[in-house]
Amino acid sequence: MKKYITTSHKQTQKLGEDFAKKIIKIPLEKSAVVLGLSGNLGGGKTTFLQGFSKGLGIKEKILSPTYVILKHFKIIKPKTFSNFYHIDCYRLKNEKDILELGLKEIIENPESIVAIEWPEKIKKILPGNITMIDFKFIDKYKREISFKI
Ligand SMILES: Nc1ncnc2c1ncn2[C@@H]1O[C@H](COP(=O)(O)OP(=O)(O)O)[C@@H](O)[C@H]1O
Ligand SMILES: [Mg+2]
Repeated sequence: MKKYITTSHKQTQKLGEDFAKKIIKIPLEKSAVVLGLSGNLGGGKTTFLQGFSKGLGIKEKILSPTYVILKHFKIIKPKTFSNFYHIDCYRLKNEKDILELGLKEIIENPESIVAIEWPEKIKKILPGNITMIDFKFIDKYKREISFKI
């Protein structure tokens, strides 16, 4: 695990942007690249994904949606990946709702990158090869962010 300390919103976005640049270099596999972002509310998961999507070349803003569970963004060619999905399971009670939104099919597509906030809420249906990113709240502006790659 690599551990990073960020001391601002901007730094966490930049870490996410750099992380995306590593992910897009991964050759396509048999199924999607799935990221699980865990840690408390306000830990910086959505902030990290704002930079991450920027690193994928996506122009639209990533928001912390109150009622949206799943949002799809197109990744513009010539990148190998073509879809980015932002999933926030915070409000889910169980796996059923997300299955109805087609999560299984989404994960089967090798050209997709799927970032899931609160993955522990749907752990029964997560693939085995998920890459975890952990967020710890240290103080008002300080976060500890750790991941393997
Ligand atoms: N170092 C930091 N990294 C990320 N966010 C920070 C940092 N310092 C302060 N913040 C603030 O903390 C909040 C993080 O919110 P958000 O990214 O939505 O968290 P989560 O998605 O984990 O609930 C934002 O209001 C952001 O401005
Ligand atoms: Mg969030």
